[in-house]
Amino acid sequence: MTHARITGTGSYLPEKVLTNFDLEKFVDTSDQWIRERTGIEKRHVAIEGQSTVDLAERAARNAIDSAGIKPQDIDLIVVATTTPDRIFPSTACLLQSRLDVHGCPAFDIQAVCTGFVYALGVAEKFIKSGSSRRALVVGAETLSRLLNWNDRSTCVLFGDGAGAVVLEASEEPGILSTHLHADGDYEALLRVPYGVSQGFEAMDEVNSKIEMRGNEVFKMAVNTLGRIVDETLAANELEKTDIDWLVPHQANIRIIQATARKLKMPMERVVVTVQEHGNTSAASVPLALDTAVRDGRIQRGELLLLEAFGGGFTWGSALLRY
Ligand code: COA
Repeated sequence: MTHARITGTGSYLPEKVLTNFDLEKFVDTSDQWIRERTGIEKRHVAIEGQSTVDLAERAARNAIDSAGIKPQDIDLIVVATTTPDRIFPSTACLLQSRLDVHGCPAFDIQAVCTGFVYALGVAEKFIKSGSSRRALVVGAETLSRLLNWNDRSTCVLFGDGAGAVVLEASEEPGILSTHLHADGDYEALLRVPYGVSQGFEAMDEVNSKIEMRGNEVFKMAVNTLGRIVDETLAANELEKTDIDWLVPHQANIRIIQATARKLKMPMERVVVTVQEHGNTSAASVPLALDTAVRDGRIQRGELLLLEAFGGGFTWGSALLRY
């Protein structure tokens, strides 16, 4: 049986950093409030002219190098993003051109913060069905473009970044299962209300930015992530103690801690990078994965549980043997 296995990881954070102390200068907030409620210490922000595909390309090249292949070996490109460079072509097509890859399928996935887990699930199915042998799966965002800097309840939470993996057909086990879900009834809790089908004249400074009812999102995220952990373990007939590493969506340290408690996992086995970059939406899971692979925490053969929750609502998980 053909498996889909991660053979390379990469990530990229823009050089420009905004610390909580920087935010104190123009937002009615404090380092202490942000740190205590979210665990975030700073976020990276794309400078003017720097776009999602710029970040995606850096992460993708890092992942391709670490897999020891050439861009031209890639036969599928999936980019998860909520902040595409253009209405069209897709960011995946723009990335394909940057990488000088031609002809293979390339498309974007929009599942907000669950985007990377969705993209991984889709690419895995391409590989298992024999349609692809080497997929580039990217999560990339310039979420700072969607922030209302007058809304302190959202603008302190998000940042920009990109993460990527190369997923290859292999005889050795890799991804064991993916679990993807959505419920469109929760739009009012987390959204950007403007969309192009309303016509550009309907767009203004406020409706084109993130709106969130943070407290309600928080409770939904904790409950939903708890359920998806149970679903993933049950589908694989595994116990909580079998998981070596939890690689969660990096939105809020308190949500991450709640999921770790549910798994009875000590925080030493949970990859936490939220303090470095805030919530980077679709980029956050591959950013965390790449960080822990590169610093040597995650080792080949270990069992990883990736999970995410985001706008839609969408939520999902991937269990994999690294
Ligand atoms: N700085 C200082 N005070 C702030 C603030 C900020 N940046 N943002 C909100 N506050 C204030 C509020 O105005 C409120 O003040 P009040 O009590 O005088 O009305 C107070 O802090 C508490 O607000 P509340 O929204 O109840 O705080 P909270 O404990 O729920 O924390 C979040 C707010 C946003 C950190 C939290 O709800 C959260 O993380 N939610 C999930 C968000 C998320 O991860 N979304 C993405 C999912 S993919």
